[in-house]
Amino acid sequence: MKRNHVHRVVVVGAGAVGSGYAFSLINQAVVEELVIIDLDERKAEGDVMDLNHGKAFAPHPTKTWVGTYEDCRDADIVCITAGANQKPGESRLDLVGKNTAIFKNIVGQVMGSGFDGIFLIATNPVDILTYATQQFSGLSSERVIGSGTILDTARLRFMLSDYFDTAAQNAHAYIIGEHGDTSLAVWSQANVGGRNVLDLAEKQERKSVDEVKKMIKDVRGAAYEIIERKGATSHGIAMGLTRITNAILKNENSVLTVSAYLEGQYGEHNLCIGVPAVINREGIREVIELPLDEEETDNFRHSADTLRRVWENANG
Ligand code: LAC
Repeated sequence: MKRNHVHRVVVVGAGAVGSGYAFSLINQAVVEELVIIDLDERKAEGDVMDLNHGKAFAPHPTKTWVGTYEDCRDADIVCITAGANQKPGESRLDLVGKNTAIFKNIVGQVMGSGFDGIFLIATNPVDILTYATQQFSGLSSERVIGSGTILDTARLRFMLSDYFDTAAQNAHAYIIGEHGDTSLAVWSQANVGGRNVLDLAEKQERKSVDEVKKMIKDVRGAAYEIIERKGATSHGIAMGLTRITNAILKNENSVLTVSAYLEGQYGEHNLCIGVPAVINREGIREVIELPLDEEETDNFRHSADTLRRVWENANG
């Protein structure tokens, strides 16, 4: 990580997610320099103009411009949001072929600039593209982070806070595994105000364990529901990417469920998948191994096997 005080983030992709992430970075005053790159340069120019016109209202004068891959040389973080996104009814895993090819090109151009920072990956299928970025870049695994299940975890925390009428900040839970249809909730670790959610549902009037456990289906279906209504998801993921960016640039050592490379943790090797990890200015400081019960262990293995199979099918 550069030692000077000017933090620079380069966003590759000025679509709904990239644009939302840029908007969020500016409004949360996260960086001093923000660079947007898109194949459609006019679109990137329009986004930068639109963002700059709001500068008088922003909490911090973030210097924002349309850039080239040369601007990655001095970037702390390059966030890749570019690629095809899900059409209604399409799964994230269906995107693997076209987006892996796009990533090979993008990562090659970023590395060609002399980039030595941290990759933050948002494009789906995010776990597979995080792994692909690590393979294509040759960077050490702690410096390639995917958004993983950070948004899934936030969705569950929102649902638990709504169900138990308690602030989301006091609803703690982890969704791990694929950011997709095989993700799983670690119910044994989920609590609201320090009380396990399944015990709470059992004891409280008009609450039920089945209703709580059904939330994992609602988490898995959330993106499909949003895409059917507005064509794409953007706000939630943009805020999740901003959360990870803050943890890196502020050297927080925060625990976030990101897509991280496993080297034996949870009994899995050589893949990227959503797990709780400690995030700081070097990237992933460590992966946290939660104690999983038998069902959770089986579901996590199924999720990992699914990701490995899709990668192998797509890359021979
Ligand atoms: C979602 C996208 C980011 O879950 O996959 O909203």
